[in-house]
Amino acid sequence: MGHFGSGVTVVTAESAPIPVGFTASSVASLSLEPTLVMVGVGTDGESLSAIRAAGAFAVNILARDQEALAMRFASDRRETRFRDLELGVGVTGAPVLPGVLGWLDCRVHDEFPAGDHVVMVGRVEACDAQEGEPLLYFRGRFGGWAS
Ligand SMILES: Cc1cc2nc3c(=O)[nH]c(=O)nc-3n(C[C@H](O)[C@H](O)[C@H](O)COP(=O)(O)O)c2cc1C
Repeated sequence: MGHFGSGVTVVTAESAPIPVGFTASSVASLSLEPTLVMVGVGTDGESLSAIRAAGAFAVNILARDQEALAMRFASDRRETRFRDLELGVGVTGAPVLPGVLGWLDCRVHDEFPAGDHVVMVGRVEACDAQEGEPLLYFRGRFGGWAS
């Protein structure tokens, strides 16, 4: 799967006292009617329980210049991941990161166990996008789009 190039997202969820968020490339569109997307969420982190408790999550699609955010949300301690970020809030309450290429605000529609991950299916309640280039991930490295 390292040879399967993908976009890069940060999946976020409302949680007290601070939100949760993690870098995720295991993201795909599933259904148009209703509009469903899926995210593979690891079972050993704190994000899964926060998404379940909130009943909602946001998929923040990273732009080419957001590699540092991808690294931060993959490795930093949970307490520092959101530091100095001016967050927006989706209709579900899920945090929206600044400067992203697009975002999808989702309510949990269903979930399925999948080994050491859970396939989390979200119903899209709101979304937006802006012009720009995507951050891509291929064979363990970040890169940009060259058409
Ligand atoms: C490019 C990239 C893609 C990733 N994709 C996923 C993913 O789809 N699902 C997942 O659970 N973790 C993924 N990870 C790993 C998580 O970002 C990482 O384990 C994070 O620390 C989990 O946060 P948590 O412990 O707060 O849940 C990815 C990491 C990177 C660098």
